[in-house]
Amino acid sequence: MAPPPPLPTLLLTTLLSLFSSSTSAPPTTTACRDTCGSTQVKYPFGTGHGCGSPLFSPYVTCGSNGTGDQLFLKSHTGSYPVSSISYTTSTITLSPPSMSTCSSMHPSSTNFGLDWTSPFQIASSTFLLLSCQPPTTSLSSPICDPSFDYLCASLYSCPAVVALGLPLFPPSNTCCVYSPANLDGKGELDLKAMKCGAYASVVSLGDNPTDPTHWVYGVALKYSFGGALDNNYGTTKCSGCESSGGVCGFAPPGNGFVCVCKGGYNTSLDCSTTFNQNQDYVWDSSSANHIFFTSWHVWSPILAGFIFCLV
Ligand SMILES: *[C@@H]1O[C@H](CO)[C@@H](O)[C@H](O)[C@H]1NC(C)=O
Ligand SMILES: *[C@@H]1O[C@H](CO)[C@@H](O)[C@H](O)[C@H]1NC(C)=O
Repeated sequence: MAPPPPLPTLLLTTLLSLFSSSTSAPPTTTACRDTCGSTQVKYPFGTGHGCGSPLFSPYVTCGSNGTGDQLFLKSHTGSYPVSSISYTTSTITLSPPSMSTCSSMHPSSTNFGLDWTSPFQIASSTFLLLSCQPPTTSLSSPICDPSFDYLCASLYSCPAVVALGLPLFPPSNTCCVYSPANLDGKGELDLKAMKCGAYASVVSLGDNPTDPTHWVYGVALKYSFGGALDNNYGTTKCSGCESSGGVCGFAPPGNGFVCVCKGGYNTSLDCSTTFNQNQDYVWDSSSANHIFFTSWHVWSPILAGFIFCLV
């Protein structure tokens, strides 16, 4: 049996193993990202908890759509992929899986809906209610606008209508253009109550209003932020943070503003202030560990050298 190693060697080995475990690189990816898949993510949106505005964070997150990352808007009725965001017009466009388009039509078994408490409202989308039970609501009900019936005729020229159990070019009294659309008291587009089986929603008719293959499908929503509820973060602190390459977020206590910088640190100002100069460094356990290991990294060879002298 080998004699036990002398105590200084044991210490040294322990130190070296500690040293090697502590040199694993600190995370370089920040908690909050400025893209999600192909979508640019800016305030008030965020890619996860603590990112963007606390008013938006419960409703919008970055998740996987099966092939890649995508932003989703969540509500009590479902989770809807975000197809585009216009930061200049404060508009977000969703492509709900329950929505039909010219190329793909299917009965909608779930209602589209928004949470009343969320900062989103239906914008200028045109809903086309499809496969409705005649006699159609279109002439009798105030919700249908007969002056847009040509849109129904156009959409019913899409071969996909057969998937709704309808013949190609079905009678247009089974379709209703619901514009401007309103959600009901529960925040939902209740197709069953309107006796319709499916819906399409059109954001833009493109160059040729009678060519449904080139319409832009989706549900456009306006979002609002700013003012007292938001502590004016969007207009003041956040723009400085974003222009310095940071991502705006919030943290306890009180969901105060933080600027999440690429270097893996947070500030309450912006990322152009370097770590050493920054008086507002936001401490948390992971950053504290990072500092500890950084100084350990520096000190351990000196300590090891000291122990070598002892040997
Ligand atoms: C999933 O997200 C990626 C990246 O944003 C996008 O390119 C792709 O079209 C999405 N896939 C589906 C099925 O929506
Ligand atoms: C920075 O803030 C984000 C968002 O609140 C948080 O997820 C992350 O853990 C914070 N990072 C550090 C190093 O404090």
